[in-house]
Amino acid sequence: MPCPHLYALEAGLEHAFTVDASRVTFGRGALGEVGERVRALGGRRVALFTDPRLRALPWFAEVDAALRAAGLDVAVFDAVAIEPTDASLDAAIRFARDARADAYVSLGGGSVIDTCKIANLVATHPAPLLDYVNAPLGRAVAVPGPLAPHVACPTTSGTGSEVTGIAIFDLLDAHAKTGIATPRLRPSEAVVDPRCTATLPPAVVAASGLDVLCHALESYTARPFTRRAPPAPPTARPMSQGANPWSDLGCREALRLIGAYLVRGVRDPDDAEAREQLMWAATLAGIAFGNAGVHAPHAMAYAIAGRVRDYRPPGYPDDAPLVPHGFAVALGAPACFRAFAATAPARHLEAAALLGADVSGATDADAGERLAAAVAALMRAVDTPNGLTGVGYVAGDIPALVAGAAPQRRLLDNAPLAVTPPLLDALFHDALTCW
Ligand SMILES: [Fe+2]
Repeated sequence: MPCPHLYALEAGLEHAFTVDASRVTFGRGALGEVGERVRALGGRRVALFTDPRLRALPWFAEVDAALRAAGLDVAVFDAVAIEPTDASLDAAIRFARDARADAYVSLGGGSVIDTCKIANLVATHPAPLLDYVNAPLGRAVAVPGPLAPHVACPTTSGTGSEVTGIAIFDLLDAHAKTGIATPRLRPSEAVVDPRCTATLPPAVVAASGLDVLCHALESYTARPFTRRAPPAPPTARPMSQGANPWSDLGCREALRLIGAYLVRGVRDPDDAEAREQLMWAATLAGIAFGNAGVHAPHAMAYAIAGRVRDYRPPGYPDDAPLVPHGFAVALGAPACFRAFAATAPARHLEAAALLGADVSGATDADAGERLAAAVAALMRAVDTPNGLTGVGYVAGDIPALVAGAAPQRRLLDNAPLAVTPPLLDALFHDALTCW
């Protein structure tokens, strides 16, 4: 155990954690393997999910050609919405049903991969979408069996969706982000080709890199698995099982890579080394948070993104107001780590050091401020909006933001201390500006 105090065992609480490992193929040119990999999984007729921007890029042509070269039938759905909604998912689910596919391939960012996961789920085990959605917004019905094989090919260095059993979308009527979380949703394989990041605009690299940063920081500082009640039966142990020695490995290396390469990868699209390392950091952080879970910054982010009025980020399609997920998560992060550091000061200081901050001479009492400052410095260096005010919110919006975040219990219960509505109110106030 790397940190005996943090993982000290207590009678009556968890003594074990579960590692859900994904099959990952990582490397330049890996997209060329997709066809043979789908065939080896038993696929014959493939539903290929992507979005309109990606369909025009060479990565799509490469995957399409690899699938056909392997002798597979391909049906393409290219209407995935950025930040999917229950309405956009309906179209994807209808497509999946009509396609009668026996295998799925997703090529895109988190929106594409999440849409493909949900289309596969509902086409394979038909039921109203809300049956599978997390409580309390949905009914959290258990998925009755395995899904069709799914090979996920991420094109952004961010969400980690290719290695997790989580899919996130906007529930329009509730003005809230929600999702489905079950190991059944985890893609059968991830094929990660860092060449895809060469075509990403700087703002997308920045936002997705901050998402990676928060996946790693939140998993590293989540309530430790040893502070939870054991599940009954043991096979019901949740994916959000808290910080553990396995997720710690990926978190530490992801933090080091983000500290070393995020600014380089944003500023210079031709810096192939930086962009490849960011893709590897995204993969590691995705594996980590798929086995530990994120917490309060992600819960706050769903309210921040769900209630946006008119912020339109540079570098993104400007047809709809949008706070990109990575920015939405980062905006609340300094406030959260400032507030939570006292629960594990050494961990918070270590995280700041991994990001490249000088923590020499820092005491336990400095941990929150040092980590908040390290995160804010990275945000500033990659042109993140400065806090909630930077994306159009004012103090008067905070009660609505608290109301949006408070139901995210899956996330809030994974925080290292109890996150009540009054604490959320304080965190949102602190997040009005980040520097
Ligand atoms: Fe995220």
